Amino acid sequence: MSTTRPLFIPVILGTVRQGRASENVARFVLEEVSKREGVESELIDIRQIQLTTMDAGEAIKDSQFSATIGRADALVIIAPEYNHGYPGMLKHVLDTNLKEYIHKAVGICGVSAGGFGGTRVIQNLLPVLRELGLVTIFWDGNFSAAHKLFDADGKLLDQAYVKRIDQFLKELIWMAKVLRYGRENVSLSDE
Ligand SMILES: Cc1cc2nc3c(=O)[nH]c(=O)nc-3n(C[C@H](O)[C@H](O)[C@H](O)COP(=O)(O)O)c2cc1C
Repeated sequence: MSTTRPLFIPVILGTVRQGRASENVARFVLEEVSKREGVESELIDIRQIQLTTMDAGEAIKDSQFSATIGRADALVIIAPEYNHGYPGMLKHVLDTNLKEYIHKAVGICGVSAGGFGGTRVIQNLLPVLRELGLVTIFWDGNFSAAHKLFDADGKLLDQAYVKRIDQFLKELIWMAKVLRYGRENVSLSDE
């Protein structure tokens, strides 16, 4: 197993909405991931991925997004809750790759205006991620009343989230390491 190469865990900001509170959540999580020793990260803002809406799937791959996902060991998806589901634009972007996701870890941070921390968007996104070949962790981020969680400069107002995200990242990083070992050392035909 490669011990020196850092893990690469990008953070996907899963909405294009003007005024999105999820951007503050994504920047907070990115900062926390980047603090981890041996972990590199970057923000993937789906607003920057220009995809046609006249087609779907791998036919409309964005080469830069595919290369970033291909290089990733794990993903964090920041998923705002829209009518209890995930933004269509997030699904449109995720659908453009397949082999790039296989046997990689993923954790979801749900973001909502209401008090359930995006639990419903998380539940709805899980089967999609499984179908893509990603391995979901059993820990989530839950950001309730997201529009009140940050000040005008995007600074987090409730420090309790630092500890919660620490637990989430511990689990994600463990899973990322285990799956990287598996991808590099364990063949599918091994018994
Ligand atoms: C189309 C739409 C549907 C929404 N549905 C819900 C919902 O079902 N539950 C909820 O708590 N908030 C809902 N919200 C509010 C968002 O969750 C809230 O804006 C939150 O900050 C995350 O989204 P944002 O990053 O776009 O701000 C909805 C917002 C939009 C634009």
